[in-house]
Order: sequence, then C-alpha cells, then structure tokens
Amino acid sequence: MNEEERRQARAFADLSYEGFRELAGRADLSRYQRIGFPDSLRAGREGAIFDDIRAKLPALEARRGLTVLDIGPGCSDLPAHIIEACRAQGHEIILVDSPEMLAALPDAPFIRKIEGPFPDCAPALAGLSGQVDVVVCYSVLHYVFAAGPLFGFLDAAMGLLRPGGGAMLIGDVPNASMRRRFLASAAGAAFHRHYTGRDEDPVPGFNQPSEGEMDDAVLLSLVARARAAGVDAWVLPQPPELPMANRREDLLLRRP
Ligand SMILES: C[S@@+](CC[C@H](N)C(=O)[O-])C[C@H]1O[C@@H](n2cnc3c(N)ncnc32)[C@H](O)[C@@H]1O
Repeated sequence: MNEEERRQARAFADLSYEGFRELAGRADLSRYQRIGFPDSLRAGREGAIFDDIRAKLPALEARRGLTVLDIGPGCSDLPAHIIEACRAQGHEIILVDSPEMLAALPDAPFIRKIEGPFPDCAPALAGLSGQVDVVVCYSVLHYVFAAGPLFGFLDAAMGLLRPGGGAMLIGDVPNASMRRRFLASAAGAAFHRHYTGRDEDPVPGFNQPSEGEMDDAVLLSLVARARAAGVDAWVLPQPPELPMANRREDLLLRRP
C-alpha cells in the first residue's frame, strides 16, 4: 500500500451506510474505492475472496433453485461472481443495499433488489421468513456495529434462514483482539514496519477497551446469540492469501 492508499484507508475507516451512498455515485473512484477499499486490497483479489465464500457456502454451487440473499453486495467484482453463480444454478438472488449501490448492479428476472439498510428494510423481506437458503453478508458487519446494536441485525437475518440447512456467511469481520495478537508476533512486527515504512515496533494495546471496534467479545457474543436462538454458529479463519486474513475472520451460521 502506498502513501495515497494509506490516506484513503484512513478516510474510508469511518464509513457508514450513508457514506457509502455518496461513494457509490463517484465517477472519479474505482469500483473498489466506491465500496471503501483502496485498489491494492481488492483489485485482482475478489476471485480468491469468492473462492473462499463458495467453499464456506457449498450449497451456492451444489444445489439448484435456491433463494439467496446478499446483504450489502456493493458494486465491484464480488457481487458479479455471486450473481453469476446464482444465474448458473437457477437461484433467485435478492440484493439489499442502498439505491445508489443497487443501481450499479445488473437487472435480470432472477435478481430482486431491495433498498436497505438491513434490518430497517426487513418488512420488504417479510414473506421470506424461514425461506432463504443462503445469506452472504461480506465486509458489512463492522458498519452495522458502528451504527448501532448488532443483535437486532443478527436476529432479523437468522429469522430468514430456512430450517434444514439455511446458511449465512457473515464474512470479513475485523477483530481488534486478533489484530493485537498478530501485532504482538514477529510476523506482525515485520508487517507493521512494512505498512508504516518506519523502523519501530507496533504497540498492540492489550488490556485496553476496544472502543468503537469489534473484538473477540463481540464476535463470540454473536456466536452465543445465534446458538441460543437454535442456529449453529462458528468463527472461521480466512485463507492466508486474502488481503486482511491477519486481522479479519468470518462467522458461519447454519439453521439445523
Ligand atoms: C465494504 S462494502 C462491501 C461490499 C461487498 N459485500 C464486498 O465485500 O465486496 C459494504 C457495503 O455494505 C453496504 N451496507 C452498509 N450497511 C448496510 C446495511 N445495514 N444494510 C445493507 N447494506 C449495507 C454498503 O452500502 C456497501 O455497499
């Protein structure tokens, strides 16, 4: 990441649903920048991200005629991969995002668009309670966390899952505890030197509140919340080749 990209990453750090609406319409930005990523974190890398998503949600390509929901698809190559998999398998896909993001995605008979944010738009999904086979929510949850309590979001999304295997991947969740563990390692110190361009050790910041950030407590509370609601849930690692695998992880949920 060069200095300009580090500046962008700082500017993108505090995005909100409303902030993304403004980015979505910016003709001067790349499609990766419009979803809040410097190019180096996404250009040429979304194929590998999709490979990980389909490995974690095998029904997407193993079965036909499913109902799929993407919460916060954005407008880069990743939703294109997901939409193509749905077309190939005869699935219906429902895309929930802002009108500005949705306008950048294709229209087709198997694609339904619902203007978000989720779960405020849940009434438009009411007929889908217990009817959704696959939910993808990738690189979105930290913006929901910044906007308000998470359990309402999780409860509403879980309510859509079909009994007998309906699965949801809440992917690419930043975890401040994981980042601290990494920064305290030799690999983390080398990464920090490379990232900052400075010859100094990182300060991991153990035993401090994770103000404004998701951490182990938040992720594990989501696992506990899901399990208490009768939905199996696991925290999963990302493959090391993904751009932020050293500080982000995924939540996989499946309704028995
Ligand atoms: C970082 S982008 C990720 C886009 C895509 N999932 C990906 O990983 O390439 C976050 C997306 O989530 C959307 N978003 C943020 N909060 C949302 C919410 N509560 N409901 C639906 N979409 C939301 C934003 O508009 C944006 O398109």
